[in-house]
Amino acid sequence: MAPEVVDVRILVTGGTGQLGSAVVARLRPAGAEVRVLSRRAAPDVVRGDLRTGRGIDSAVAGVDAVVHCATDYFGREAQLARTLIEAARWASAPHLVYVSIVGVDRVPLGYYRAKHETEELFAGSGLPYTIQRATQFHGLVRALLAGASRLPVVPVPRISFQPVDVRDVARRLAEHALDDPAGRAPDFGGPEILTATELAQAVGEAAGRHRRIVPLKVPGETFRAYADGGHLTPEHREGEITFRDYLAGRVDHGERDHPGDS
Ligand SMILES: NC(=O)c1ccc[n+]([C@@H]2O[C@H](COP(=O)([O-])OP(=O)(O)OC[C@H]3O[C@@H](n4cnc5c(N)ncnc54)[C@H](OP(=O)(O)O)[C@@H]3O)[C@@H](O)[C@H]2O)c1
Repeated sequence: MAPEVVDVRILVTGGTGQLGSAVVARLRPAGAEVRVLSRRAAPDVVRGDLRTGRGIDSAVAGVDAVVHCATDYFGREAQLARTLIEAARWASAPHLVYVSIVGVDRVPLGYYRAKHETEELFAGSGLPYTIQRATQFHGLVRALLAGASRLPVVPVPRISFQPVDVRDVARRLAEHALDDPAGRAPDFGGPEILTATELAQAVGEAAGRHRRIVPLKVPGETFRAYADGGHLTPEHREGEITFRDYLAGRVDHGERDHPGDS
């Protein structure tokens, strides 16, 4: 994104999270006036809760766009979106940018179903919207494979991932926020598709551990959907930062092992 000065006001929900904070870091140098929503009082944030609706009307008032990175891992993803959409309707109908996950309509996980339902809420809202699906973040993939690397033999599922860096996804979301609504945008994926074995090897090497990695076939329809590549987008490899680059320069992005978010 060109570092030109822009005259727009943007609310970033989830702006304290790993992706949202990277979006804020992209938008501020571009000259946008950025509001960060958080449930907790902190310097430089607008306080509000998308579950209860407290503080949301004033957070949304007067903004040109909302980048919606806030999320709920316990079944209330759609509820957060409904609150946001209602507040946006009563405000100046800002452009709503929602980040979703590649394959939410193919992988039968509860969290993915909730994300898919939420996509439909934005698409049916009558408000200007952009839905950007992305593949799994590097931090999530590392967290999934790092736990196992403490064992002498590392069992990994016989599936592949296309991990993407939050900074690359943030760049795309910032571009959307400053651009016209795109509806359902083309998927955004990481630069490489690697097997869990290759990724676990990279995690082990970065930690200075050399363990035997054993790929396992995992039963169940969710893993079948992963094995079939339902979460991959081979034709969209726009992310630039590779998994090994990420591991080599690893700084703390605050990544956590999110329940349901795999
Ligand atoms: N992880 C992945 O691999 C991946 C891949 C593709 C897409 N995504 C999507 O990317 C998005 C961001 O993920 P992330 O990993 O950056 O999330 P995260 O680090 O867990 O951050 C979650 C954010 O949600 C906010 N939040 C939660 N409940 C809220 C509520 N009731 N009201 C207002 N804010 C609330 C939190 O803000 P406070 O705690 O400050 O209130 C926090 O900033 C999610 O939609 C996720 O589905 C993730």
